Amino acid sequence: MDLKTFCRSLPKIELHAHLTGSLSDATVLRLLHAKRQEGVVDLPDSAEVVLKRGHNRTLKECFEVFRILHCLTDNLVALRTITRDVIREFVEDNVQYLELRTTPKVIIGKMTKEQYIETVLDVIGEEMKANITIRLLLSVDRARGVDDAWDTLRVTKQYMSQEKYKNLICGLDISGNPNVGDLCDYIPVLEAARKDGLKLAVHVAEVLNEKETLHVLKSGLVSRVGHGSYIHHKCGGTHEMVNLVKNFSIPIEICISSNIKSGTVKSISDHHFQHWWKEGHPVIICTDDKGVFNTSLSEEFQMCAETFKLTHDDLCELCLCAVDSTFLPRNERDELRKTMQQKLQHLRKNLGNS
Ligand code: IMP
Ligand code: ZN
Repeated sequence: MDLKTFCRSLPKIELHAHLTGSLSDATVLRLLHAKRQEGVVDLPDSAEVVLKRGHNRTLKECFEVFRILHCLTDNLVALRTITRDVIREFVEDNVQYLELRTTPKVIIGKMTKEQYIETVLDVIGEEMKANITIRLLLSVDRARGVDDAWDTLRVTKQYMSQEKYKNLICGLDISGNPNVGDLCDYIPVLEAARKDGLKLAVHVAEVLNEKETLHVLKSGLVSRVGHGSYIHHKCGGTHEMVNLVKNFSIPIEICISSNIKSGTVKSISDHHFQHWWKEGHPVIICTDDKGVFNTSLSEEFQMCAETFKLTHDDLCELCLCAVDSTFLPRNERDELRKTMQQKLQHLRKNLGNS
């Protein structure tokens, strides 16, 4: 079995996927066509060019892409479609467990945060009938200010306590342009969220920012680090930061294509994955934005294996260890581990026979 087929066949866990950033070309083109027919005015003429896939962009350009994508997805019908499409694409890629994240938005006359969350949760509920388990993290966009973050937490709590949706929401994500705003301002929101029983996935050190990174890590509130490109002392971080991550046992979500294509990490051979992996620290391979960065979880596994000379056993270990970094309660984690072990065993058996 070649590496590409092997990576596709691996039963995988995806823990860092932004809904709007995960839209495939097919979905985006369909939405764009519909908007053009409506004669939407706030869509730039060059939208098709800006959206052209796969090429490298600066972080600033990535956020321009998100602006256009948000314009295309500014209503509940589109939201329903994209949620369903993205989930099905992860199923196609043999993802067994998905923690999807998205920023609830208010669009006057079109949707409230409540309707946004409810729509995503309803589609998740429907799609779980297929071969996948899904949980939702609500994203706080650091560029939208602290008041908006409090508001998102308020609405999140409302849905956590509803019997119908209770177990589907597992945490809060802090994301958004890392060059805008200051994470330190969000600490009170994070403290309140933890008290309310939410786990926290925080984009930390996506770009170099020693003061912010130290402050957030020292808070002890972070359940998983997103990116963490400038934490390891061999990659522009410090020993103090590494010690904090290790002492608090914080797993790191690794998004290689995202880092390389947005230019926050110079080249793949410089990627911080290798240092944490060698030191046995929990790392999870993720896509971040499979649409914007023209990738898939299987391709991320393949790229990682080729660059860092990982064996089949290493790749299986990465899949299985990701179970421990999920935001599932213990009993559900145990269930998931069992399923993953069975699927991996089956794959190994096939390998032996091929
Ligand atoms: P959404 O929350 O479903 O609308 O997904 C897109 C949003 O995710 C963007 O507007 C950003 O706030 C966030 N996001 C996606 N990728 C990144 C990243 O690499 N760094 C920081 N934030 C990101
Ligand atoms: Zn992200």
